Amino acid sequence: MSTLNAGHLDVCDLPAIMRTNYELTRMMGALKVSKEILKPHLEIQGQRSLSGEINISGAKNSALVLMTASLLTREALVIRNVPKLTDVEGMSNILLAMGVRLDRKLDEIEIQADKIQHIELPYELVHGLRASFFCIGPLLGRLGRARIPLPGGCRIGARPVVEHIRGLKALGAIVNVEHGVVTASVPGSQRRLKGADVILDCPSVGATETILMASVLAEGVSTIENAAQEPEVQDLAKMLNSMGARITGAGGPKITIEGVDELHGCEYKVMPDRIEAGTFLIAAAITRSIIRVSPVIPEHLSAVLQKLRDCGCSLQIENEAINLIPGQITGVDITTQPFPGFPTDLQAPFMALLATANGTSVVTEKIYENRLQHVAELQRMGASIRVQGNTALIEGVPELSAAPIKGSDLRSAAAMVLASLAARGTSKLEGLNHLDRGYEEIEVKLNKLGACIRRN
Ligand code: UD1
Repeated sequence: MSTLNAGHLDVCDLPAIMRTNYELTRMMGALKVSKEILKPHLEIQGQRSLSGEINISGAKNSALVLMTASLLTREALVIRNVPKLTDVEGMSNILLAMGVRLDRKLDEIEIQADKIQHIELPYELVHGLRASFFCIGPLLGRLGRARIPLPGGCRIGARPVVEHIRGLKALGAIVNVEHGVVTASVPGSQRRLKGADVILDCPSVGATETILMASVLAEGVSTIENAAQEPEVQDLAKMLNSMGARITGAGGPKITIEGVDELHGCEYKVMPDRIEAGTFLIAAAITRSIIRVSPVIPEHLSAVLQKLRDCGCSLQIENEAINLIPGQITGVDITTQPFPGFPTDLQAPFMALLATANGTSVVTEKIYENRLQHVAELQRMGASIRVQGNTALIEGVPELSAAPIKGSDLRSAAAMVLASLAARGTSKLEGLNHLDRGYEEIEVKLNKLGACIRRN
């Protein structure tokens, strides 16, 4: 028998069974390495000038909530301008699991919830898609029952749903949270919610949308005070009104809902995605390029447009399009706020721009407790940023340099795309599972403008 010398191990010295194990381990090691290399990523060539017009998709956050509103009627709903995103796929799977009929053709989804077979959402589908919790409002409104796992926290913060639950209880629902599952039901033979006045502690977008969807079929009048004023809330109210609901005041701090007996189907076009539009305007500024974004509703981006002007860009605003003409970028201070303030979802992308500005900027994140994760990645690209609590102090640098980087949530991944477009060299960006949740074919759109991004 051969003597094994750990220092000079020759595989031929091993007995057959051990040899197989040895080969297997070696193969597994190689597989692990190649899996690392093969992890989906973008290779982004930096410092290319961009030009042309970029087409903005339908709003992700609108589309998701509109899809759940289909549960409010047995008639068919046709939603147009729905972006192709993994979050939309996730929501489609949730509706399908409930027994709802769903048919997607290009950017159009037809949903018919004539039969809802399951009012209990499976955890595997809900996990990772916070918007899944939106189903609770329509299910309670139409059927008087729902069982939904808590969406849980996420990397950017804890994201509780206490306001949603408080609102549903005010409308007469009995709600219990046990073992991570929210069980809600409406007492009485009719299982119908009753109109109520709800005052939110904070203007939560999700809570406003949940209470809105729950109250449209309630008996009597409801009001939501301190409501979220985000455009997505207005989009939802607009579609619900096309379905026969009676909602006034959406887009302002007080919404009034006069309950109706039933809703009908309709055709509705999702509004343009203001966050995607903002991201591409920042892409123009960070690459010092002239870009036109369209379609866009400029009023949805007022706070962002003002900051772009403040840091040296010129903007030409038309009805449904914005042209950005970059200038010398100088530092500005930003504090995220509920709408109409500066949106938290564009904080990370804007910080990438400020990392390349002349002078100092202070960025304060007021909505989420843990939304500065992009800072470490920007630092790896040469950015000079110091963080104290929820504030980042950014000293602009003349140039960022390419690096292997990772997006750890949707908007930080977008920020890293922008930083890579501006950096010297070719960056490798991982974390595409986050990016693909909210940006439809981002590399295809940017490549049309002259970027050089390859998906591997
Ligand atoms: C929505 C958007 C998200 C955006 C956010 C703020 C969707 C699918 N997502 O998320 O992209 O970043 O609005 O514009 O539309 N809060 C409470 N208690 C609650 C509910 C919320 O304290 O019961 C707090 C949250 O922790 C957070 C803040 O309110 O700090 C804003 O959250 P909310 O407006 O509810 O955000 P979402 O609807 O989850």
